[in-house]
Amino acid sequence: MTELKNDRFLRALSGEAVDVTPIWMMRQAGRYLPEYRATRQQAGDFMSLCQSPELACEVTMQPLRRYAMDAAILFSDILTIPDAMGLGLYFEQGEGPKFRKTVRSEADVAALPELDVTSDLAYVMNAVSLIRRELNGSVPLIGFTGSPWTLATYMIEGSGSKDFRNAKALMYDQPEVMHALLDKLADAVTKYLNAQIAAGAQAVQIFDTWGGILSTPAYQQFSLQYMKKIVSGLTREADGRKVPVIVFTKNGGLWLPEIADIGCDCVGLDWTMEIGRARELVGDRVAIQGNMDPSILYASPARIQEEVKRILASFGHGNGHVFNLGHGITPEVNPDHVTAFVDAVHEYSAQYHQ
Ligand code: CP3
Repeated sequence: MTELKNDRFLRALSGEAVDVTPIWMMRQAGRYLPEYRATRQQAGDFMSLCQSPELACEVTMQPLRRYAMDAAILFSDILTIPDAMGLGLYFEQGEGPKFRKTVRSEADVAALPELDVTSDLAYVMNAVSLIRRELNGSVPLIGFTGSPWTLATYMIEGSGSKDFRNAKALMYDQPEVMHALLDKLADAVTKYLNAQIAAGAQAVQIFDTWGGILSTPAYQQFSLQYMKKIVSGLTREADGRKVPVIVFTKNGGLWLPEIADIGCDCVGLDWTMEIGRARELVGDRVAIQGNMDPSILYASPARIQEEVKRILASFGHGNGHVFNLGHGITPEVNPDHVTAFVDAVHEYSAQYHQ
């Protein structure tokens, strides 16, 4: 196995010393890059891009050619699992994801097939192995999944939603049906992440994009509990090195101490809470990943640098920080502003690691 040339990201996730703060960006491969738009056009539609290991590998590598990122993230989508369960994922121009079938009753949940992820989602594992080969030890590769709750919201609504009416009604009226669905998803997600780790993912992130719409008790029962179950079922070492787990609940700042307790190595933080405050809440139990407002990237490079300095100062000296945005980068960002962002993190963080 090739030795990693840059392991800052893995070291920071384990709370170990680094020379500068590592950085990667959620959605770093995406529509803000002209080369992504070109490959996407070549593929035809988004799912064909995900399902071609060669093209998925190409777009994973694109941001690394432009920027000094400290990690690569597998190019795929969280909705590959419900798609493989037969719900029929599709994207219409200018709109979010949609499913041809929804899951809204006990019978719908019972009818969901049990996945054999290594065969049903073989295209994802093939992309992981190909990307590892292409990276050739330059930086580590992150694998990912959606949380059971976040996947369930899309499966029940059949698309994104403003109020999650159907998902919440099912949760409150028929909690046992919701739990049966979440149980199936937790099982599928555990196998999916373990298959990604076996194929070469060196860290994994659980995206709980919609956990933050829940009340505190509902979050604990319907989202956090299932993420805890997943974390406890993951392969935590590969090639003699720890495989760290990052849990990102968007709008989950209130619940950071509880998230830190589920056995993960790092909590993801959106931009609403000061990272220094988050650090007080979790102590040195876990690392923290975040948390610049993605909209700052619309501002000038000078303003971006100022914001990077502010966040680094808020976290302060010491280990356990992975710099990131508080959510994914948006398609309208100027790619040159990302250069200013990434370089500022490396330049201004060195003083905090002396
Ligand atoms: O971070 C990365 O670079 C890896 C790739 C990645 C994508 N989706 C590619 C993508 C990751 C990690 C995801 C996760 C994902 N997908 C989440 C969780 C993270 C988050 O943002 O909260 C969610 C909720 C989804 C579901 C999904 N897929 C949405 C809401 C959309 C966007 C719809 C839109 O038009 O903005 C997608 C499609 C998608 N996934 C795109 C990309 C680059 C855009 C598709 C395109 O090229 O047209």
